[in-house]
Amino acid sequence: MVISFGSINMDLVVRCERVPDQGETIVSTGWLTNPGGKGANQAVQAARLGAETVLVGRVGSDAFGRDVMNGLSAYRVDIGGVMVDPVLPTGVACILVERGGENRIVVVPGANGAVGAAELKTLDGLLQPGVVLLLQCEIPFAVVREAAHVAHLRGATVILDPSPWGSVILTPGIFGDVDYLMPNEGEACALTGTSDLKEAAGILLGLGARTVIVKRGDKGAFAVGAFESPEVPAFSVVPVDTTAAGDSFQGAFAASLDLGFDPGTALYWAMAAGALTVTRPGAQQSMPDEVEVTAFLEARLRKGDRLPKQQI
Ligand code: RIB
Repeated sequence: MVISFGSINMDLVVRCERVPDQGETIVSTGWLTNPGGKGANQAVQAARLGAETVLVGRVGSDAFGRDVMNGLSAYRVDIGGVMVDPVLPTGVACILVERGGENRIVVVPGANGAVGAAELKTLDGLLQPGVVLLLQCEIPFAVVREAAHVAHLRGATVILDPSPWGSVILTPGIFGDVDYLMPNEGEACALTGTSDLKEAAGILLGLGARTVIVKRGDKGAFAVGAFESPEVPAFSVVPVDTTAAGDSFQGAFAASLDLGFDPGTALYWAMAAGALTVTRPGAQQSMPDEVEVTAFLEARLRKGDRLPKQQI
């Protein structure tokens, strides 16, 4: 089973040729609302790949909350662990997407900021050896730490996405309960104060993570630690919207582990899912299912596109 413990948002997305400069007004090329939030996105991707998936988090008692819950159910995510806050609104993310797919995101936490003891209790009732737990940092970091700690003690595999990195409070051994820490390259550099990615990954290992997987977007990914992988190039695709590509990567990695694949194979599934996600607009609505990822990997293999045969 995969459990995602984290944020649930409604994304308000504005497309533009380029983001405006300070004090500048520009005209959008289109907009959409669609369900997002790193916790919810990762749960959707895991479920789309066939893993039994539970989401633990909080929404507001409002229309956005009802919409995102309906969407999650349609994706077969178990929302039994999602609480409805009687006061705070559902989290919202304001997202600017430029031509070429790059995004900038501002999150308004709303109910996500109130995730705490009640959700930890729900999580505690679900944890058991073999569970894969997905964590991100759009809920209070103290709660993320406690969830990782309890899960580690209970024999779960803990995957932490340190995003947004500004929420992470670095102390010695902070990642000691984390099996897989998965920053993107910007987060790896910001957290460690170096632009040398290998050095950054080494520093993050030194903070306790057993494996660090650095996601490099269209440049690929590499892993160091208990599981090691040299730089694996990304699959070449035409990007439309990079929103939630990292969530797709993590959700697919978790689902693959849960379905019994080794970390090396899980890494390829994660990269394939992330690559497909950037070819479509939006967050959850852009995530591929098992059939699509399998077809993509097989097609790339036929083309000889860098996928070693033994990896699928
Ligand atoms: O990682 C992408 C997500 O970040 C968006 O869906 C948005 O809601 C923010 O949480």
